[in-house]
Amino acid sequence: MDNYKLLITGGLPLIGETYVSGGKNTSVAVIAASLLCDEPCTIENLPDIEDVHVLVDILTNLGAQVEFDTAARRMYIDPHKVASCVVPYRQSQRMRASYYLLGALLGRFGQAEVGYPGGCAIGNRPVDQHLKAFRALGAEVEEKGAVIYAKGKMTGAGVFFDRITVGGTINAMLAAARAEGTTVLYNVAREPHIVDLANFLNSMGCKVKGAGTGTIRIQGVRYLHGSTYTVIPDQIETGTLMIAAAATRGDVVIRGCIPTHMEALTAKLLEMGVQVSDTDDAIRVRTLRGHRAVNIKTQEYPGFPTDLQQPMSAMLTKASGDSIVIETIFESRFKHLIEMQRMGARVRILDDTAIIEGVPELYGAPITATDLRAGAALVVAGLMAKGVTEIYEPAYIERGYEHMEEKLRALGADIHREAL
Ligand code: EPZ
Repeated sequence: MDNYKLLITGGLPLIGETYVSGGKNTSVAVIAASLLCDEPCTIENLPDIEDVHVLVDILTNLGAQVEFDTAARRMYIDPHKVASCVVPYRQSQRMRASYYLLGALLGRFGQAEVGYPGGCAIGNRPVDQHLKAFRALGAEVEEKGAVIYAKGKMTGAGVFFDRITVGGTINAMLAAARAEGTTVLYNVAREPHIVDLANFLNSMGCKVKGAGTGTIRIQGVRYLHGSTYTVIPDQIETGTLMIAAAATRGDVVIRGCIPTHMEALTAKLLEMGVQVSDTDDAIRVRTLRGHRAVNIKTQEYPGFPTDLQQPMSAMLTKASGDSIVIETIFESRFKHLIEMQRMGARVRILDDTAIIEGVPELYGAPITATDLRAGAALVVAGLMAKGVTEIYEPAYIERGYEHMEEKLRALGADIHREAL
């Protein structure tokens, strides 16, 4: 139980300018990838969020020298003193991305012993595709007592993923980066953070081609030199801020983002009647009239992102008409809508589909966050609602959003913490 709750007095439009922080899901991949290097690396634009701090702890416990200057958002990582290949369960279960240590340690040392990952309870989330890739690259893999043991000299191979998996793609890239020979990964994820990871690996001297397409080719290299690298802005934070601006009928400019990463969401907001305009590195979101209901089907990138389904479906609870939301990526990602029924939302959920009947008003109520993006969705709901909303278990939000409360307050939101 968190020791504080969030209090939001809703009904205020978000107005003004804000900025996007470095990407959570790219940062955790790039930080893990730095272990592959034979020299120190410096990574810029890292967000000051819980998941990054957990990864700093894990790398430090492995023996790496890590200095994270949160004010400068810069991290220095010297991996040459890494003396262990073991990440115990008590550490690995603190986040999802701890499983990237499997690929990084296998890629560097040919050995890894990592406890099962944690992460948001949004579905079963097996790792069979990760293990399939490791085995194809020459590892012997065993699962025993919530720990994955992998050992073997990485040798280039072909890997065809049975389903598109972001984590599986990243883990295979890490394990293959220094393998002997060439690896071809088929049916891979194409998210912006896959491309960012490939760019970081190549900045160290790796030979990765095709990131962002369905097939990635990696020619293993023996030695990786140090690198200074800047991670891309967070696509999901950008989208969450765009949705919050539209949901409160505000007028917000979001700076430091990459508009081309946002096309699926932008198209949906335009379909709803929201005004969206962009320049090279900024997006402006305005609403001049009511929002039409729309249908959403989550898909792998460049489709509508599953991580934005939750904040978007919160916004749809007040759209004019019925919206249908189909969640194709995770089995259990509608819990936030069940919470929002206490605020007056009208929702029917059947397996992977939520039918949301738009209502004229939501009313503040005590609600509880169940995962990171559910927390963001409940914040959007609180900003939209009449009266005061109390959000319990809000610490989930800090895992993936840097200074969210401060950013929203600077845009005019009435949001603050209260000790329990
Ligand atoms: C990453 O999770 C992100 N997490 C998730 O973001 C994101 O929702 C997801 O990708 C999809 O974009 C991080 O990057 C740390 P997947 P990941 O492997 O890698 C199934 C957030 O809010 N699958 O692409 O775990 C899996 O069960 C988080 O920032 C297998 O069946 O997602 C899921 O149904 C939440 N076998 C689907 O594939 C496997 O071996 C997609 O999962 C791997 C995955």
